Amino acid sequence: MEPITLLQNKKIILGVTGSIACYKAIDLASKLTQAGALVDVIMSDAAQRFVTPLAFRSVTGRPVFSSMWDLDEHVRHVGLGETADLLLIAPATANTLAKLAHGIADNLLTVTALAARCPVSVAPAMDGGMFEHPATRANLLTLRDRGVTVLGPAEGRMASGLTGRGRMLEPADLLAHVRLALAKNGPLAGMKVVVSTGPTREAMDPVRFISNRSTGKQGLAVAQAALDAGAQVTLVAGPIHAPIPYGAHTLHVETTQQMADAVLEAIKDADALFMVAAVADFRPGKTSEHKIKKTETDEWGLAIGLEVTLDILSAVKERRERTGFPRVSLGFAAETHDAFEYGRQKLLRKGLNFIAVNDVLEPDAGFGVDTNRVVLLSSAGVVEEMPLLSKTAVAERLVHHVAKALGR
Ligand code: CTP
Repeated sequence: MEPITLLQNKKIILGVTGSIACYKAIDLASKLTQAGALVDVIMSDAAQRFVTPLAFRSVTGRPVFSSMWDLDEHVRHVGLGETADLLLIAPATANTLAKLAHGIADNLLTVTALAARCPVSVAPAMDGGMFEHPATRANLLTLRDRGVTVLGPAEGRMASGLTGRGRMLEPADLLAHVRLALAKNGPLAGMKVVVSTGPTREAMDPVRFISNRSTGKQGLAVAQAALDAGAQVTLVAGPIHAPIPYGAHTLHVETTQQMADAVLEAIKDADALFMVAAVADFRPGKTSEHKIKKTETDEWGLAIGLEVTLDILSAVKERRERTGFPRVSLGFAAETHDAFEYGRQKLLRKGLNFIAVNDVLEPDAGFGVDTNRVVLLSSAGVVEEMPLLSKTAVAERLVHHVAKALGR
């Protein structure tokens, strides 16, 4: 995966309180730092019984704070709380959550939390029945009402050996949350975006199908770029085996008809549609309920009779002419020859604002690889001829052009 530059120079205060999950907070501090963030760690006394400040200092390269009685630190952290982009407390114990809910400020972290003017997120971690206790429940409700984001906790095995709800979310999930939280003011903030990705499948019988080589990489990159730009993203995904970007509302589909139904429902009030999916254009003329046996070839014949599937973008075009939604629509053109001319024709035929044309026979573009070479066209002509780029970078460029078309 590419390094996340989104957190470049973002100021994050990581509050660490006394739980065995402190060891995971070291990994989290490391991941945030590697993503470009400036991470200032504040540890409670109890946290220092589990891990040392040196561990955090080693991964962040910055001083770690803990004492409220060093006047310089105290003043600095009240200031830091005012200028930080995010205060994340992970792990957050039941005790610290109770203090936050009641405005108690008896250590450097709780003082900083009271002074903070930035968004606050907490990742609870606690054992036994503590999370289920009415006191903890009420405290979390109070914090939520005040705009604090509560992340997790997850269910699983806890330090006591009991199984239940109380495990801190994994560092990778917390990093994904931070990425999402910091995207809130991006160019697509408040916009609804629909992205389709992956192939579709058309069954011959319960075990065989027609599909194509799409792995969904480009569409997933577009969904991530739209999330990073602050959009609310609905992802309509055909069968793919890659991780879904955190924060996307995902609808899993299999056939072209299912993808059409999901896309047409999702675009009802959408600002933009990115139709990145490699939709199966053909399906078997008939489908068997049971696995077709070799001995049955007389009945089924060895030739598969195909019929053409519904063209989703043509249905979108018709919907858009009636309702005005989606406000902007972008398609892809996967071509193997005369890419530019076919792309131009598809743009007009499918009523698109933009079409991203790529030659899928080039070895470093198209299906399965991490790079792509795309020419973006609008009805006015070439918008941008991109060099060979990572699919992530292509996605960011496409999102930029669509945001511009939406007046952002
Ligand atoms: N598309 C669609 N519905 C289909 C097929 C494709 O909405 N049944 C969309 C794709 O998601 C893409 C665009 O149309 O955004 C162009 O897809 P492409 O496969 O390049 O073109 P086709 O319309 O299938 O035309 P052809 O196979 O003749 O190249």
